[in-house]
Amino acid sequence: MRRPDLTLETSPVALRDLHPRTAMEAREVLAGLRANPKSLPPKYFYDREGSRLFEEICDQPEYYPTRTEIAILEARADALANRLGREVLLIEYGSGSSRKTRILLDCLPEPVGYVPVEISRAALEGAVEGLLEEYPGLSLYPVCADYMELRSLPFADLPEGKRVLFFPGSTIGNLHPREAVALLRNMRAVAGPGCALVLGVDLRKDAAVLERAYNDRRGVTAAFNLNLLRHVNKALEGDLPLDAFRHRAFFNARLSRIEMHLVATRAVTARVAGKTVRFGEGESLHTENSYKYSAEEFTELLKGAGFEASAAWTDPRKYFCVFYAESAR
Ligand SMILES: C[S@@+](CC[C@H](N)C(=O)[O-])C[C@H]1O[C@@H](n2cnc3c(N)ncnc32)[C@H](O)[C@@H]1O
Repeated sequence: MRRPDLTLETSPVALRDLHPRTAMEAREVLAGLRANPKSLPPKYFYDREGSRLFEEICDQPEYYPTRTEIAILEARADALANRLGREVLLIEYGSGSSRKTRILLDCLPEPVGYVPVEISRAALEGAVEGLLEEYPGLSLYPVCADYMELRSLPFADLPEGKRVLFFPGSTIGNLHPREAVALLRNMRAVAGPGCALVLGVDLRKDAAVLERAYNDRRGVTAAFNLNLLRHVNKALEGDLPLDAFRHRAFFNARLSRIEMHLVATRAVTARVAGKTVRFGEGESLHTENSYKYSAEEFTELLKGAGFEASAAWTDPRKYFCVFYAESAR
């Protein structure tokens, strides 16, 4: 039953806001919009509307990653619970709506707490309010932060327990493999010695399947991509004309990554943060990468970051892989 009094404002949950720089930095955005080739960091996708659109992407029939990862987690819930054991402190990076977290929370015996780390405060608050209601006994330690800059967990009173990093959604794929190793090393340092990792990775597959997933028929991924320009306009008093750009997503086989771009369909001159920004007709703004791996490649990558993988669970089509790994040192 719904308990209207249990909200973030009235609960004892203390959300730590490290004030990640989602507040668009004019300098960074202008540099990206004026570079050749042009690009913007994907963290700017996730304003309130961006987080909502991401959830909608997850429900599109072409977007297999979410459904497939959920199916793997559900099928392996018992195996995971056995490996993780009792008294787990679950630390999730890029937690979003914490939808997949519930699968772990439902199978773990006596978790001692949950630390969601998320750059979007709106998404974090929404997730925490839902969890407060559904898991009233669970201790929550939400952190609004850019995980690329997190060096420690900002709580003096975290409970003792096995620290388990959870990083689903193939979010790791948004990083260049070198950056992915650096982030995983940092995560290991943040969680401390003896930590474990549960991480989801999208696997390399037929390009047509990959490209369909990022070009859904209803145009939700296109709307998500274009929302970046709306976000820039709103945050930096811009007037980039959304109707002058089209969504483009394709598999770059040489680099084994899906690339998302916004391509100008005509020459554009616009103002952003008081400065002029120009696009030639056909010029592209690179907005996101999503690297695809083989399970073997990613096992090696984990090794490079100091994690020893002891399980790599896939689905029957081998579309997605969930790794269980432990800190090697
Ligand atoms: C691909 S979504 C995955 C969401 C969820 N974990 C899932 O599996 O459905 C990526 C999430 O990471 C968050 N995120 C992206 N970059 C981030 C960063 N640098 N620091 C913290 N969170 C970030 C986004 O706001 C978003 O909620």
